Amino acid sequence: MTTPFLEVLDVSKSYFLNGKRIDVLRGVSIQIQQGEMVSLIGASGSGKSTFLHVVGTLDIPAAGRMFFRGQSVFDMNDAEVAEFRNKSIGFVFQSHYLLPEFTAEENVAMPALILRQDRKPSLKRARELLERVGLSARAEHRPGELSGGESQRVALARALMLKPDLLLADEPTGNLDPSTGEGIHALLREVNRDLGVTAVVVTHNETLARSMPRRLRLKDGLVVDAD
Ligand SMILES: Nc1ncnc2c1ncn2[C@@H]1O[C@H](COP(=O)(O)OP(=O)(O)OP(=O)(O)O)[C@@H](O)[C@H]1O
Ligand SMILES: [Mg+2]
Repeated sequence: MTTPFLEVLDVSKSYFLNGKRIDVLRGVSIQIQQGEMVSLIGASGSGKSTFLHVVGTLDIPAAGRMFFRGQSVFDMNDAEVAEFRNKSIGFVFQSHYLLPEFTAEENVAMPALILRQDRKPSLKRARELLERVGLSARAEHRPGELSGGESQRVALARALMLKPDLLLADEPTGNLDPSTGEGIHALLREVNRDLGVTAVVVTHNETLARSMPRRLRLKDGLVVDAD
């Protein structure tokens, strides 16, 4: 049997607030194969962001295991987790979180610049990624000089900067009008198809979710394949 790309096993996570306990994930087990394009749907508050944060190692679960290409992620030390997150994961959030004082091109290159990779090739790759998301003409714009959809495309280009294996997108179209949102989803499908990046995309939009080959639903603390 081949090793799964991503395997989540019996992951649970609860929040405690004012003495009350909320069981958000109650033993989630799921496998995702390399190259898959998966949407994750579920009611508001069902735990979609929590799940994505756990998979992306931004949050620590109470229990459970996770294997990335056979490697046990929750057994890694801090340095290994940081490297895993940097090298293997790309994030796109509902808000773009671009740095206002930098141009689109610099924002895209930022993950490489933070790792002190050479500036010139980093900016060159940033340009290529901006071209891929259809924004060559906006490379010199600062976030305040971009539309919402354009900002989100810059954020997607930035997420691709370090060539992630797994792209995690948390309602990347949540703040956009439906047609701009569909544009972002089309772009995500293109990135998945052309670059082979495996992607998990949280969305509230059933139509967009249906445009993905596989749909997962978070309900009652569990993730199941939706029909
Ligand atoms: N830091 C926290 N402390 C306490 N409770 C929290 C915390 N973060 C999230 N929660 C609760 O956990 C549950 C799941 O939250 P989560 O953000 O994962 O939901 P979601 O499915 O992403 O919702 P949405 O679609 O609205 O983004 C919610 O009921 C939320 O109120
Ligand atoms: Mg959320």
